[in-house]
Amino acid sequence: MSDHHNMDNIRQNVREEYAKVAEASNEGSCCGEVASCCGVSDDAAINTLISTRLGYSEGDLDAVPDGADMGLGCGNPRAIASLKEGEIVVDLGSGGGFDAFLSAREVGVSGKVIGVDMTPTMISKARKNALKGKFSQVEFRLGEIEHLPIADNTADIIISNCVINLSPNKQQVFNDAFRVLKPGGRLAVSDVVATAEMPEEMKSDPLLHAGCMAGAELIEDIETMLQKAGFENICITPKDESRAFIKDWAPGRGVEDYVLSAYIEAVKPGGVDCESGVCATWHTCD
Ligand SMILES: C[S@@+](CC[C@H](N)C(=O)[O-])C[C@H]1O[C@@H](n2cnc3c(N)ncnc32)[C@H](O)[C@@H]1O
Repeated sequence: MSDHHNMDNIRQNVREEYAKVAEASNEGSCCGEVASCCGVSDDAAINTLISTRLGYSEGDLDAVPDGADMGLGCGNPRAIASLKEGEIVVDLGSGGGFDAFLSAREVGVSGKVIGVDMTPTMISKARKNALKGKFSQVEFRLGEIEHLPIADNTADIIISNCVINLSPNKQQVFNDAFRVLKPGGRLAVSDVVATAEMPEEMKSDPLLHAGCMAGAELIEDIETMLQKAGFENICITPKDESRAFIKDWAPGRGVEDYVLSAYIEAVKPGGVDCESGVCATWHTCD
């Protein structure tokens, strides 16, 4: 089978799993044990617990329409985004719109947020949530993060929460993110990364893949891909404390020995302010 075919199969498996997640949450039914990226709960108390453990405040949870938070993230990309009024934000793999809506509050009505997701049911859910919450500056577009439906040099910042690990072609994701960012634009991502090579038996398990574990890439390989795409000021910060919740994503499988949640930050060179040093205030990593 060609690489192209394989990548399509992987994306198809991911799309089917997240369509089930979106449908289950629409119906208010649920898929049993809830602890991860691939589970979903219609119980607000469980989602609150999951999300506060990921770094969201109770205020964040109160600020979005019911159902936008499905507890599908692995961190809080806004914590490293330093969003400013008027900025254009792109959210890769926007799901029910949770981070898109919270970002919209920060960039205000003079800003804009574009969420991209390849699962039609997720996009419908997010659009309904935007109407419910009257988020006029948020738009959701159906598409793959490897081929973003967005023009070159559009975004001030790209955020993403627990999505890039699911892509079978991460180099293409970073290349396209680079294309869509304005010069000086920033990447602020929360994702699962590999800290050690996973055994083949785990790596080839489609449920562990859709659950944001088996597709995770080694930190040094992510860094190389970001460099190849053209990014600079690359900073990848794995969070040891995430082991506690990652363990619950696949109880008894030992995934926490191979993957952790991390923040991934990078900058597209060429920002007008960079020469005067202003952009350095966003982030320095050493
Ligand atoms: C784990 S969920 C995270 C959703 C959201 N970021 C959040 O934190 O609630 C992954 C989402 O990414 C989407 N997704 C996965 N792979 C994708 C790809 N290659 N292109 C576009 N969307 C993708 C899925 O449809 C799903 O909605």
